[in-house]
Amino acid sequence: MLDKINKYMGEVAQFNSLKVDEIESFRIKFIGSKGIVKTLFGEFKDVPNEQKKAVGQALNELKNTAIEKVKISIEALESEQAEKGIYGDLTRPGAPVELGSRHPISIVKNKITSIFSRIGFTVSEGPEIEDDWHNFTALNLPEYHPARDMQDTFFIEKSEDVEKDMLLRTHTSSVQVRYMNEHKPPIRTISPGRVFRNEDISARSHCIFHQVEGLYIDTDVSFADLKQTLLYFTKELFGKSKIRLRPSYFPFTEPSAEVDIYWGLETETDYRITKGTGWLEIMGCGMVDPNVLKNAGIDSEKYTGFAFGMGIERIAMLLYQIPDIRMFYENDVKFLEQFKAVQ
Ligand code: PHE
Repeated sequence: MLDKINKYMGEVAQFNSLKVDEIESFRIKFIGSKGIVKTLFGEFKDVPNEQKKAVGQALNELKNTAIEKVKISIEALESEQAEKGIYGDLTRPGAPVELGSRHPISIVKNKITSIFSRIGFTVSEGPEIEDDWHNFTALNLPEYHPARDMQDTFFIEKSEDVEKDMLLRTHTSSVQVRYMNEHKPPIRTISPGRVFRNEDISARSHCIFHQVEGLYIDTDVSFADLKQTLLYFTKELFGKSKIRLRPSYFPFTEPSAEVDIYWGLETETDYRITKGTGWLEIMGCGMVDPNVLKNAGIDSEKYTGFAFGMGIERIAMLLYQIPDIRMFYENDVKFLEQFKAVQ
């Protein structure tokens, strides 16, 4: 009998579980109403008198140890569950973190700035609310100049607080005026930023969009330098190596040109976007008008320069075949998520 009790003692001492059903079956097995302890007490009457004391003691010890074991196990289980309530199951794999994506405008802006920074251009920025001088007059567009109509402008009403003629900048050429005022040639800078024009919103144009404009001023800068710079840029960005410059007009450059790249006519889309010509207009450019240099305090006898400007939305629409400019501003996650893989 003592041997049997000792064997059970060993089993009770070894029991270790934090599972509800295992603790419960341990309880039933040892101290349940038909359990081992009960059965052993039933057999106690057959124990010879001289052993009764020792067996009785051992039996009571078994009973108390088993009761204690159940109590400890339940306490341990409860405290584990309480912790789980706060921290969850710490051994579970973590929930995947949803990564955001860059906006296509930022992606393209970064691409353009990195291409120009490789050939020594710095990035310059300026205010979106601009005065008339920096947006127009300094750029060879005096008051009443008819070319002011080329860019429909949002003007800010004059009031006690607004004394100067203020407006929302229509291009980032205004930043270049500021830059020329503050820096001496040689100047190599690009100005990315948001611009505003009072235009009807359609699939092709919006009243708010983004530009990158570039400015290069040094001694002996020629039109050939401009063309070479633009060729380098279009090769890097589009992987296309054929461009042409068509004569055009901008008040701040002379001569001025529109830049077309040869996109090709390989697919139906190529036909559609180039209207069957294979050529696509991507930006405006020209040699900085000496008047503009003078207005910004640069010696126009000594220095020459070129400037160019492009719309980021237009470039992004070409690069990613985006059919409608309005998609950039709708914050539709299904649209934006498509740029996750692009850097
Ligand atoms: N500022 C012109 C525009 O917004 C672009 C441009 C910049 C053209 C520099 C020529 C030279 O349309």
